[in-house]
Amino acid sequence: MTTLGILGIGHLSEHLVAGWMRSAEPPELLLSPRNAEKAEALAERFGLSIAADNQALVDRSEAVLLSVRPWHALEVVRGLTWRPGQSLISAVAGLLLADVQAAAPQAKVTRVMPLIAAAVGESPTTLYPEDALTRAIFAPLGPVVAVPDETLFDAANIAHCYYGCLYALMEQAEAVMAEAGLDPASARLLASQATRAAATMARDHHQEPLDETTAAIATEGSFTKLGLDHLQEREALTAWAEACRVIHRAIREA
Ligand SMILES: NC(=O)c1ccc[n+]([C@@H]2O[C@H](COP(=O)([O-])OP(=O)(O)OC[C@H]3O[C@@H](n4cnc5c(N)ncnc54)[C@H](OP(=O)(O)O)[C@@H]3O)[C@@H](O)[C@H]2O)c1
Repeated sequence: MTTLGILGIGHLSEHLVAGWMRSAEPPELLLSPRNAEKAEALAERFGLSIAADNQALVDRSEAVLLSVRPWHALEVVRGLTWRPGQSLISAVAGLLLADVQAAAPQAKVTRVMPLIAAAVGESPTTLYPEDALTRAIFAPLGPVVAVPDETLFDAANIAHCYYGCLYALMEQAEAVMAEAGLDPASARLLASQATRAAATMARDHHQEPLDETTAAIATEGSFTKLGLDHLQEREALTAWAEACRVIHRAIREA
């Protein structure tokens, strides 16, 4: 079993830990001590160990996940001694692999971008470069998508912002159903399950272009077409496409 040290116990890592601990064969997790309240709560909930300090965490781990904020990351990595070939997995958004590698020349660095949906085993994780150990560590949290170069890592991460935007879209549908008198729990269940249904169909029928799927559903005279036409007339879908490009540009320039 791989010992995975988690350097930075915050919003992301608490969801990752929850995901690993619900999986059949979780890695042996070791937590960094800073943010003691959160680390102790996680350790108690899942029966995990907390390292005495960051160096002890690195020394005791086969692989280390870096999940501190970008402005802390390089200083934290530079201040530690890494074993030759030790796996250092950076989840830090916007931080280039070469910069992490320069801060820990002995380590074998990979980048990942998971979602907090890891907590329910549904996170797509973008991986660069392909690496068997990193893939094996993240596979229990959802599908791992390795990309062949770092510019594609940026492009793939549009999906992660897309995930965040989906909640806002779902919220509108849920609110209108609730306004019409549906109880909030039913409105939430219907909106979320419809989102999940579309996602599963799109994933499992990935050869089918999505415009064909849409056309087959939004037929002439259908209520779905009425809604889509309303969006098209107001150029809402064009604005959405632009938003995806704005996100991509910002990720590339970060
Ligand atoms: N949140 C997400 O959904 C998400 C998704 C993908 C990637 N990421 C990436 O994951 C990283 C963490 O994000 P987050 O949202 O989890 O941030 P967060 O909640 O602020 O967690 C970061 C944790 O790192 C701790 N930390 C800071 N310096 C440290 C050090 N020297 N040693 C050990 N721990 C240290 C912080 O402690 P203090 O609070 O005491 O500073 C905090 O507990 C970021 O780089 C982000 O880009 C996040």
